Amino acid sequence: MVTSESLLAACCDAAREAAAFVAQQSERLLELDWQSKSRVDFVSSVDTGAEERIRRLLLERFPKATIIGEELSPDETRSDGVVFAVDPLDGTTNFLHGYPQYAVSIAAVVDGILEAAVVHDVPRNVQYTARRGAGAYRGEARISVSKIEKPSRALIGTGFPFRDPSQLEPYLSGFTRVAREAAGLRRAGAAALDLADVACGRFDAFWELSLSSWDVAAGILLIREAGGVVTDLDGNEKKVSHGGLVAGNPVMHNWLLARLQS
Ligand code: IPD
Ligand code: CA
Ligand code: CA
Repeated sequence: MVTSESLLAACCDAAREAAAFVAQQSERLLELDWQSKSRVDFVSSVDTGAEERIRRLLLERFPKATIIGEELSPDETRSDGVVFAVDPLDGTTNFLHGYPQYAVSIAAVVDGILEAAVVHDVPRNVQYTARRGAGAYRGEARISVSKIEKPSRALIGTGFPFRDPSQLEPYLSGFTRVAREAAGLRRAGAAALDLADVACGRFDAFWELSLSSWDVAAGILLIREAGGVVTDLDGNEKKVSHGGLVAGNPVMHNWLLARLQS
């Protein structure tokens, strides 16, 4: 029987196996071959090797499931039944440079509803997990979004629109409005970890103009189960889909959305 417990267990086991592979491969960075998907978008044998391992384990446990995976099945469109959204290595550029901020991100969606999620921080070997209605955790510890309500105290995460230069100008006007009032801004380079950082209260809010479903699926559930809010750039409830994302504790989310929309 498909339960949210069995889905989460599969997501966590698959993430652990992929994370062990990624960690082992981080010892041989100089031997890795980078392929370019576009001007600044790279993929290596580590991304695909991690996704193969995740696929194998998830399909062993849920043979009828659909997998939307960044490297091996990005165009999958089936959305009924059990769907796993998989980013086998979020923060590939960081990984390839030995910058210790990258993760494995897996979410289980059943008939369109997010049921279970894991973000495995590889360099720190820590799992962030959530099940619908059962809270969010960092390892065994329950986590929640921050209580900071003043922009002058707020640390805001973001991601730059590095793939699409035409987005730079609108991005920078939002950035300027946020930077004028916030205590600090950070761009760490792995969206799944940025969202985990919102869920555990390190970031008070976060935004990025363009992310893929596999970048955000797990992080959305982590933040909602930790008491936060996640929307698209129009303020509508964020779906597991491509596009912009604004997240935060309820007060800072509202504040950030207003700065981005003005
Ligand atoms: C990227 C990272 C980055 C974000 C990009 C993503 P990848 O994922 O999450 O922080 O700014 O939009 O595509 O390509 O390293 O899996
Ligand atoms: Ca990603
Ligand atoms: Ca990736």
